Amino acid sequence: MVQKIAVIGAGTMGNGIAHVFAQNGFTVNLIDVNAEQLEKAIATISKNFDRQVAKGSVTEEKKQQALANITTITDIAEGVKHAELVVEAATENIELKLQIFKQIDEFAPAGCILASNTSSISITKIAAVTKRPELVIGMHFMNPVPVMKLVEIINGYATNKQVTDAIVDLSKRLGKVPCVVNDYPGFIANKILMPMINEAIYSLYEGIAGVEEIDTIMKLGMAHPMGPLQLADFIGLDVCLSILNVLYNGFGNTKYAPCPLLVNMVTAGKLGVKTGEGFYIYSAGSKELVVSDRFKK
Ligand code: CAA
Repeated sequence: MVQKIAVIGAGTMGNGIAHVFAQNGFTVNLIDVNAEQLEKAIATISKNFDRQVAKGSVTEEKKQQALANITTITDIAEGVKHAELVVEAATENIELKLQIFKQIDEFAPAGCILASNTSSISITKIAAVTKRPELVIGMHFMNPVPVMKLVEIINGYATNKQVTDAIVDLSKRLGKVPCVVNDYPGFIANKILMPMINEAIYSLYEGIAGVEEIDTIMKLGMAHPMGPLQLADFIGLDVCLSILNVLYNGFGNTKYAPCPLLVNMVTAGKLGVKTGEGFYIYSAGSKELVVSDRFKK
């Protein structure tokens, strides 16, 4: 049974993935070329465990055990050499991912499953740069990983059935609910989510309603935890734009064409929570939602 995990990339998704594996008794090598990023990731994981300790879902002892299950490493070859599963959660950049998969294919043991947390890049394409395409699969976690129950599992064209079954079982061992889908642009999660977000941005761009109205309608009318514009800020407007482009190019259908307002905001560097401004303005420590001056009436 798979027990030794390597997670590549110590950003938001990578640290969340390391968190849930470590919490569930797996040993995790958390790998990032940037040592400072690794330090930050451990601090974030510890802080997120504190939330769970505070509400009583995890004991302090369990937190310490989980943290002890994580080793940080800057060298990919060293980090994956004993892994039974590698989960890649690097930046959503196709060239970077292909480069990483070539490397992990070279250094991970034969039989090790290689998973990507990509939100939209073709698993089949990633698998094609390795010598083990049948062992390559998509394991798409949702942000915040410790909270969100879903793992969208994506079968590449060559993914072996035993590999899919193993990843389904593993996701259940993490307390998650796996859903298996096929490898087409955006898979299912983003093929449905991104057109909704794009439509919300179009509605703002066309002046049909303001930021607060759009988000309130979807929150209170459809029981979404966040409105689509707030969710876009949370995901990152650059990520939303890049996924929409994958859908647009992949299906060749203008219904996925990104709204010009989204394109402008990304060009202007207003990427949402991570840059402090998107549809809303974010100041450290504040939970209050403040609409950006740009969209104030
Ligand atoms: N780690 C651990 N626990 C966390 C956490 C984290 N990073 N973030 C939040 N929590 C916990 C909190 O401790 C809290 O727990 P209790 O309710 O038990 O006390 C709970 O989650 C709710 O958190 P908050 O009270 O701080 O805030 P909230 O009620 O506004 O919920 C939220 C925050 C869970 C993020 C909620 O707003 C939400 O579900 N938003 C939508 C998230 C979503 O859609 N994610 C998917 C994005 S798409 C994606 O990831 C994939 C892609 O490809 C683009």
